[in-house]
Amino acid sequence: MGIVIEQVGPTLAARLTGLDLTKTLASHDIAAVDSGMDRYAVLVFPAQALTDEQQMAFASHFGQLEGNAGGNITKPGEHRLPPGMNDVSNLGQDGKPLARDDRRRMFNLGNQLWHSDSSFRSTPAKYSILSGRIVSETGGNTEFADMRAAYDALDERTKLEVEDLVCDHSLIYSRGTLGFDDLTEEERAAFRPVKQRLVRTHPVTGRKSLFLSSHAGAIEGWPVPEARAFLRDLVEHATQPQFVYVHRWRQYDLVMWDNRQTMHRVRRFDADTVRDMRRTTVAGDGPTYQEANAA
Ligand code: OGA
Ligand code: MN
Repeated sequence: MGIVIEQVGPTLAARLTGLDLTKTLASHDIAAVDSGMDRYAVLVFPAQALTDEQQMAFASHFGQLEGNAGGNITKPGEHRLPPGMNDVSNLGQDGKPLARDDRRRMFNLGNQLWHSDSSFRSTPAKYSILSGRIVSETGGNTEFADMRAAYDALDERTKLEVEDLVCDHSLIYSRGTLGFDDLTEEERAAFRPVKQRLVRTHPVTGRKSLFLSSHAGAIEGWPVPEARAFLRDLVEHATQPQFVYVHRWRQYDLVMWDNRQTMHRVRRFDADTVRDMRRTTVAGDGPTYQEANAA
C-alpha cells in the first residue's frame, strides 16, 4: 500500500492515504509524513479509528509529547483522558456536554479564536494531531491559515518592520479577549506571559512565517494599544480566504498541523451535542526567543 498525498487547500493542506496509523510506522513512512508536513503544513488522514494509546504512539514518532498540564483550567482529578492526551471535547468526566456556563467550557471557547497551539509556552508546540472521535453534524469546522503565504504577501516595509519584533503570549490575553478573566492566583501565575518572535524561519525549508496567535497581547517596546491594533491587522491579513483551508470533519479523521507555520480555529457548534475531539501534541525543539536574563 503506497502513500498518496493530494493537496486539498489553497496554499496548504493535503490528504494523505495509504498508511494504517494503528500500526508502528517504518522510518521511510515517518520521513514521508514529515516531508508532507514541511510542504503542506496540514495533513488530513481519513478513516483512522485510533485508540488513545495508538494516537500517542503515532505522535511519538515525531518527537517528545507535551503533557496536558498548564494549558487549561482542568483540575488534577477532573481529567477525562490519560496524561499525554489533550481533551479538546466539550465533555465532562461523565461523557456529557458541559453546562453552557461551565468554567472549563467558557475557557475552551478560546479555541474559536485564531491561534497556534502552546504559543503561551516558552517552547511552543511543533505538531498537533487531532482525532475526531465524535464530530459535530452542524458547525465545528476547523480552519487553518497558512502563515508562510501570509508572510510572503506582506509588503516590503511591513516585512522589515516585523522582522525582529518579539511578542508576549499568554492564555490570560486570549481568554481576556472573550471577557473571561475568572482566574485564580495560581492560574494567573501558571499563565504568565512568555516571549515569542513574530517572524520564524522553518528549520527545513528555510521559509519565513508570521508567528501570530490569539495568545499574543503585547509587543516588546511598543505601547499596548498600538501593539494590539497592529497584531489584529496582521491576523486579519493572514486569515484572508486565499490563505485558509476549511476542514469539514468526518468521524475518525485525523488532522495533523504544523503550529510553526499555521494558525487554526474551530467554528461555533451546538453546545448540547457531543463533540469528542482528542489531541496529541509534539513539543517544539526550543524557545523562539532567548531572553538575556532567562533562568
Ligand atoms: C486544538 C484546537 C480545534 C477543534 O485541538 O488545538 O484548537 O476543532 N481544536 O477542536
Ligand atoms: Mn488549538
